[in-house]
Amino acid sequence: MDALECINSRRSIRKYKNKTIPSGIVRKLIIAGMNAPSAYNSQPWIFILIKNQKTKNIIIEAKGGSQFIMKAPLIIACCYDENKSPDKYHNIENVSLAAENILLAAHVLRLGACYIGAFDPENLKVEKKISEALNLPKNVHLVSLISIGYPDELPKSKKMKKYSEVIRIEHY
Ligand SMILES: Cc1cc2nc3c(=O)[nH]c(=O)nc-3n(C[C@H](O)[C@H](O)[C@H](O)COP(=O)(O)O)c2cc1C
Repeated sequence: MDALECINSRRSIRKYKNKTIPSGIVRKLIIAGMNAPSAYNSQPWIFILIKNQKTKNIIIEAKGGSQFIMKAPLIIACCYDENKSPDKYHNIENVSLAAENILLAAHVLRLGACYIGAFDPENLKVEKKISEALNLPKNVHLVSLISIGYPDELPKSKKMKKYSEVIRIEHY
């Protein structure tokens, strides 16, 4: 699979086989995340690998849904350390780019993954509850979660906007 095929065929997968992901593969996923661009090359990310059912339960309770998390062999919590970043404005972007790299790496490695929002500025309770469960220090902030496993479903087809709807030439 080449890079463009990987990008264009990636889809969220929410059903996983009961099969552990080998640690070498997990390492490849994290290294893909670490290769993302970051403002000032600050690389402020921290990735927390979660397999514990108790923690998954807390996440589901905090989110008020996303039951499929329970059967994911691996959840990666994508966070940033504000002390590792020269400014506070780019951290969500930094971590989101790393998360997309992980989603793409998962796809090329024939895993299925789903991005799960965990940061909502209008509902900080979700982030707070999960952060407590993950024992995050004050300077480390949760942005998103990624559930990953060997796929046990075919991706649903998704409605795509037309090219003409999203493209403008030179100005709006
Ligand atoms: C910021 C963000 C938050 C998301 N949160 C959730 C979520 O809480 N639960 C979930 O099942 N999927 C979540 N998703 C996945 C989207 O539903 C999915 O990416 C979208 O439907 C497009 O489908 P695709 O990933 O197959 O292209 C989230 C995606 C993004 C970008």
